[in-house]
Amino acid sequence: MAGRGRFITLEGGEGVGKSTLAAALEARLAARGLAVVRTREPGGTPGAEAIRSLILNPPAKVTGWEPIAETLLFYAARTDHLDKLIRPALASGAWVICDRFSDSTRAYQAAAGHVPSEHIETIDRICVGDTTPDITLILDLPLSAARDRMTARANDKDAIESRVLSYHEAVHKAFLDIARANPKRCVVLDASVTPDALASSAIAAIDARLGGDR
Ligand SMILES: Nc1ncnc2c1ncn2[C@@H]1O[C@H](COP(=O)(O)OP(=O)(O)OP(=O)(O)O)[C@@H](O)[C@H]1O
Ligand SMILES: [Mg+2]
Repeated sequence: MAGRGRFITLEGGEGVGKSTLAAALEARLAARGLAVVRTREPGGTPGAEAIRSLILNPPAKVTGWEPIAETLLFYAARTDHLDKLIRPALASGAWVICDRFSDSTRAYQAAAGHVPSEHIETIDRICVGDTTPDITLILDLPLSAARDRMTARANDKDAIESRVLSYHEAVHKAFLDIARANPKRCVVLDASVTPDALASSAIAAIDARLGGDR
């Protein structure tokens, strides 16, 4: 990792507080004098943001995207994001905070959408290669609590948010399975606490895993 920044990804279902935590982490790490790049998926570059619109608002609204088509759109966006933003930022020594990354594809498109995992891992190796996260923070919150937060936020549901409850239950379970399968990379955080308490536990996890670099 020497000479390179650090790659931090935030994962979890909708409304668990990923974007709120991303902003808080950016502020706390920047206050240490680190160069921080905060970004999100799908998106983060002009090309990937254009693909984001296609994914979340499919032109054929009723049929939407088939799971494999959706997966390939995510990886087209991810490839652009890695090439044009994430890899250059890491090479410059910045700490990259990314709101969702490959684990979201594993949870949504593989576990909930039934795209075979081996297909996704093959595509992931091609597109992501060794630019894997140094640490992944998985925000854990019961689905009902996440729904309440989203209701409070009151925006229109996109194509993925609109999917049935069982889909989102599968996503929630998948993130915990991913954490169990990747204990060196992943840390599960209790996301039911206040934004400030969550940011503190996230910083503690980052320091424990990536410590000694400050
Ligand atoms: N720790 C928290 N406690 C209570 N409310 C929170 C907390 N974190 C975020 N919120 C609120 O919950 C809502 C969802 O948070 P946020 O947008 O950060 O979630 P998200 O995981 O990014 O959601 P999405 O997947 O839809 O992008 C927002 O209204 C936010 O203000
Ligand atoms: Mg968000």
